[in-house]
Amino acid sequence: MKRRDLFRLAALSAVLVSGTMLAGSGDAFAQDKKWKVGFSQATTIEPWRAQFNKDIIAEAAKHPDVELIITDGEDKTEKQVADVENLIRQEVDALLVSPKESAGLTGVVQQAIDAKIPVFVLDRNVETDQYTQFVGGDNVLIGKAAGEYAVELLGGPGKAQGTVVEIWGGMGTQPAHDRHNGFHEFTDKEPGIKYLLDKQSGDWKQDQAYNLMANALKNNEKIDLVYGHNDPMAYGAYLAAKDVGREKEIKFIGIDALPGEGVTWVKNGELTATFLYATPGAEGLRQAIKHLNGEKVEKTIVLPTEKVTAENAEAVLKEKGL
Ligand code: FRU
Repeated sequence: MKRRDLFRLAALSAVLVSGTMLAGSGDAFAQDKKWKVGFSQATTIEPWRAQFNKDIIAEAAKHPDVELIITDGEDKTEKQVADVENLIRQEVDALLVSPKESAGLTGVVQQAIDAKIPVFVLDRNVETDQYTQFVGGDNVLIGKAAGEYAVELLGGPGKAQGTVVEIWGGMGTQPAHDRHNGFHEFTDKEPGIKYLLDKQSGDWKQDQAYNLMANALKNNEKIDLVYGHNDPMAYGAYLAAKDVGREKEIKFIGIDALPGEGVTWVKNGELTATFLYATPGAEGLRQAIKHLNGEKVEKTIVLPTEKVTAENAEAVLKEKGL
């Protein structure tokens, strides 16, 4: 058995023992595969991650010469580090990684770079810029758009009044900090805006945001606006307010705009707005293949965003065929 076949066998056992997934068009083990691409995903328990995996698998299906190996970090840094080590051992031709957190993944990403594997960092960054490319949304820009809209909802520039609950994503991730900073570039100019929570993180999760909001509601008679760093957390806050009959007095803003989640919640009048945060699954894989085929790739690819409110939610859903 050739060395490469041995790795394939190892990959097959990985499918059986740890939920590693192989994707591609036709037989993943066919000899016509030219490139072995590894993708280390942070977790699959969040809906946006599930969509991300669907997008990359759909893109892989268009490239018969690519064998795609996807691992699931199960929302644990140690597991994701082990996944990347495993992909390095399998001698992947390119590594795509969407880190659970920046600091914890930096060492192993550096190991891949040192092993001369081209690395494509997707969505959340690492603390080195020696990778081949970063693909993701501009979270400062998205935060700014959310902040500008929050000011408008609270009365407009120079006149905005109200109390704001901000629910942070994971503290160890750049998107959470960027979404915070962008938002505050607008809201901090408004002396009439008061903030109720100090750096409280819901770790991107709906249930944790529900609990934070349930407490905030107990402690504060008036809450005017919730800014969740993603839609599941904005929606968790909405549900907490609904459970005590206060959801109508509050505006809820989130980020992600998945059709079946954020956009639908906006259409139903549950969230006031969400901002598109496209998954880098398809583009990330396309870029990696481009690089493997010897073409030049940019250092950074920024994916566009879009504001979704009651005005365009239906049109956005129709565009997606829903
Ligand atoms: C999923 C997620 C998204 C969010 C992104 C930020 O894990 O929390 O909801 O937009 O990660 O990195």
